[in-house]
Amino acid sequence: MQQNKNIDIKPLEFNNTWGYAPAPESAEPANIKPRYELFIGGKFIEPEKCEYFNSINPATEEVLSEIARADIADVDKAVKAARHAYDTIWSKTPGKIRAKYLYRIARMLQERAREFAITETLDGGKPIKESKDFDVPTAINWFFYYAGWADKLEYAAPGKTPKPIGVAGQIIPWNFPIMMAAWKIAPALAAGNCVVLKPAETTSLTALKLAELIQDAGLPPGVVNIVTGEGATGAAIVNHPDINKIAFTGSTRVGKLIQKSIAGTGKKLTLELGGKGANIVFDDAPIDQAVEGVINAIYFNQGHVCCAGSRLFVQENIADLFIAKLKERLKTLRIGDPMDKNTDIGAINSARQLETITDYINKGISEGGVMYQDSCATPEKGYWCKPTIFTNVAQSATIVQEEIFGPVLAVQTFRTIAEVIEKANNSYYGLSAGVWTDKGSKIFEVANRLEAGVVWANSFNKFDAASPFGGVKESGIGREGGLHGLLAYLNL
Ligand code: NAI
Ligand code: MG
Repeated sequence: MQQNKNIDIKPLEFNNTWGYAPAPESAEPANIKPRYELFIGGKFIEPEKCEYFNSINPATEEVLSEIARADIADVDKAVKAARHAYDTIWSKTPGKIRAKYLYRIARMLQERAREFAITETLDGGKPIKESKDFDVPTAINWFFYYAGWADKLEYAAPGKTPKPIGVAGQIIPWNFPIMMAAWKIAPALAAGNCVVLKPAETTSLTALKLAELIQDAGLPPGVVNIVTGEGATGAAIVNHPDINKIAFTGSTRVGKLIQKSIAGTGKKLTLELGGKGANIVFDDAPIDQAVEGVINAIYFNQGHVCCAGSRLFVQENIADLFIAKLKERLKTLRIGDPMDKNTDIGAINSARQLETITDYINKGISEGGVMYQDSCATPEKGYWCKPTIFTNVAQSATIVQEEIFGPVLAVQTFRTIAEVIEKANNSYYGLSAGVWTDKGSKIFEVANRLEAGVVWANSFNKFDAASPFGGVKESGIGREGGLHGLLAYLNL
């Protein structure tokens, strides 16, 4: 059992008023088993080759549990179980009954919210206040919302006869594990499909707990199957001939691979890939609120957010003031034990991701950027990256062009709307953007001209199950959430 006592919380040096007393959450309610098997056909079964890998706590580097590694044979079993459930039960289950199961899952998740939040933080490194107040509630929201659709499919596509697609293969990343599982499973089941889902290898635990919950909820065996493993397991799902649809969230690199491998197979596809969100602050914006918004946009979940506002554009005449205020605010962010209720910045998800981020920071410096980090201490064990700001960066700089997926903000300035639109749209990506101004007309003008799937105005990182989310350009294909997210699981 994870005991979480290895992290020493050092009070920040610069100002004692911010040195809160430790407020650690207990690891006990997570109740993590030493080993997890594959969830196939309603049962937990050993993988054919009996291979397992460790999931660690990235804040302590301690092993939390052993996770089964599914190979092609295991994935085949899972797809067969899903097909059988689809043919014999789920495709014949009335919408109102499917809705009942989804409501039940949502309510049971509410009851076990604390256990899921703590597990999420232990396994992935994100601050407990985020997993408690954002990840788990948003996951629950998704199940409730799509439960509402299950018996109303004829209203989703008026004049058409919506039919489920069949068996969906779903592959999710490590940045929002339980939330991504809910985003994938809830609309698929509401529409009448069965699923084979693979969580990311560093964060499988909450998906496996969801499998236990689904078993407790009495969902017919095989409707949801959860197989664990690395990229090869994901590829086995993608290439299985009896899968009708692939839903993937993760890197643009793997998204492109998937697109190539299913070309010509008739499999349907939705992709939610990377981003390089532009956050634009005009000189008429409420400055202090904008500072808060910019901090949230880039440092939420250590920057492990596809829609993070990782490029800041500040209007030139307020740039010095704004950057000074940002740096001041950086000093008050608490980095350290993710299980502490006061922690703002938790651990980087894996050693590999920390290496990626560090490489980008070094590249930022070598390409002439000016880096700023606060002098706060970080714990000795675990994977940590201080919140980082780069100024003096060129539009062509690697850290402006490429997704870093870490707490690294690249700041540029602009004078006119035309200039900032051109700079913001000069990106392979088009997932998210933010606009900060007190003029409604400016919001509409800028939002209409930005190439992004989502534009937030005077806010950032706001989500709702009823609202579609997704990207343009290399950020993806299709939408998740809302009616759009439901239609992605229906044949019309
Ligand atoms: P990844 O794209 O490799 O992993 C995402 C999921 O895909 C995991 O479940 C993984 O096991 C699976 N996967 C890996 N290779 C696969 C394959 N060939 N076929 C099918 N499934 C496969 O992302 P990774 O390597 O963990 O992170 C690398 C970079 O990707 C990050 O630095 C970040 O820039 C980006 N990323 C973006 C995410 C987003 O939400 N847009 C989420 C995770 C990573
Ligand atoms: Mg882990």
